[in-house]
Amino acid sequence: MDMNIEDVKSNSKTQRISAHSHVKGLGLNEEGIAEEIHQGLVGQKEAREAAGIIVDLIKMKKMSGRAMLFAGPPGTGKTAIALAISQELGTKVPFCPMVASEVYSSEVKKTEILMENFRRAIGLRVKEVKEVFEGEVLEITPAETDNPLGGYGKTISHVIIGLKTAKGTKQLKLDPSIYESLQRERVEIGDVIYIEANSGSVKRQGRCDTYATEYDLEAEEYVPLPKGDVHKKKEVVQDVTLHDLDAANARPQGGQDILSMMGQLLKPRKTEITDKLRMEINKIVNNYIDQGIAELVPGVLFIDEVHMLDIECFTYLHRALESTIAPIVIFATNRGKCVVRGTDDIVSPHGIPLDLLDRIMIIKTVPYRVEEIKEIVIIRAATERVMIEEDALDFLADIGVKTTLRYAVQLLNPASHLAKIYKANSIEIRMIREASELFHDAKASAVILSRPDAKFMK
Ligand SMILES: Nc1ncnc2c1ncn2[C@@H]1O[C@H](COP(=O)(O)OP(=O)(O)OP(=O)(O)O)[C@@H](O)[C@H]1O
Ligand SMILES: [Mg+2]
Repeated sequence: MDMNIEDVKSNSKTQRISAHSHVKGLGLNEEGIAEEIHQGLVGQKEAREAAGIIVDLIKMKKMSGRAMLFAGPPGTGKTAIALAISQELGTKVPFCPMVASEVYSSEVKKTEILMENFRRAIGLRVKEVKEVFEGEVLEITPAETDNPLGGYGKTISHVIIGLKTAKGTKQLKLDPSIYESLQRERVEIGDVIYIEANSGSVKRQGRCDTYATEYDLEAEEYVPLPKGDVHKKKEVVQDVTLHDLDAANARPQGGQDILSMMGQLLKPRKTEITDKLRMEINKIVNNYIDQGIAELVPGVLFIDEVHMLDIECFTYLHRALESTIAPIVIFATNRGKCVVRGTDDIVSPHGIPLDLLDRIMIIKTVPYRVEEIKEIVIIRAATERVMIEEDALDFLADIGVKTTLRYAVQLLNPASHLAKIYKANSIEIRMIREASELFHDAKASAVILSRPDAKFMK
């Protein structure tokens, strides 16, 4: 079997969000006021409202080169709210999440990793006029022939596609590779698509709105029947990040016009991205911005557990924030005053050097009340599809107050497993108790360690 590597395109980072999968947004109303429980978030209203303002500012492009910090005790929703920001920004604004300790890799320099993520967080919206065939799909007919190499299989020699616009219809005879793209985009009859004349790439825009009454409820996007001819010039908008461009151009190739630059996106290959290359890309990008072909979209670089960065990284970041093309950087930490990593004795709030801290806006998160913890546990239980009894819920909320919210949420999992073992329909209080005895939280573990009879190696 052939593996099609050519079209592997997106190299955006996959997010580790399973613990936050219930978070759908910041849960603010029209005026930007946080609702008590909305979009998966509970309480922590001030931080959510502050985050809402940040989202507005980012959308107005008034935030690039700025930095903010979520500071608060463990399990107070810093990571959750940061991810909610990403949801609010939508897919058009880049959001690159990372954990500070990612910079420590034996193979790549720390600053290299920071720079790469920095550029993942800066978007570029490119508008190009392209020659396309566009319309509602009337037919897709693959024409089969016998396999020229013999054997029993059939291969597709070409594919016939009928496209319709308000002005007329056209039948196209196309290369078999386009049939594969059609299948990948899951194109069906009645969809509106366009096919780029040069590259043959297929883009599905949505379902034609003449089909809009098919179902009462669905996630489909409907688009009107295209006007004009099937074969035409069309303004095509493409969103990429600077890192996409770096990676796509990180090997010797032809022209430096936007077409070949974008064309390279289709076939990324792992090659080293050098500073020189980045500077060249910047130059081209600036050029296109000046000409009005492209528009910069500063996004968000989210660095979680920022106290893990060392002084070298902080210095680097500080300088990078100063450059003309910069995203907004959002930090999060649960540390108070501590030694800045990489220094012997420089103690600073949140482990961030004072000169950098000085330019950061800080959003505080505060511990939850017991009712809030209960609501969050209810949401998590629903997300993980586990049933839990009322008194077990109260007990779990109490545990959350005494330890951390995260510990309480995490107990759901072993407790629901115990419920299965006991053949119970829902989690009962004894299963929570048993799970909390089997698995300790950090504080309990620390207490055990400090006992004189703890037989650990010192
Ligand atoms: N206000 C909230 N509403 C709903 N769920 C929340 C809320 N706050 C936290 N959670 C959930 O509780 C768990 C712990 O929260 P989170 O990981 O965001 O804490 P944190 O402040 O980042 O902690 P740490 O400092 O340890 O990184 C996550 O599963 C998160 O989704
Ligand atoms: Mg966190």
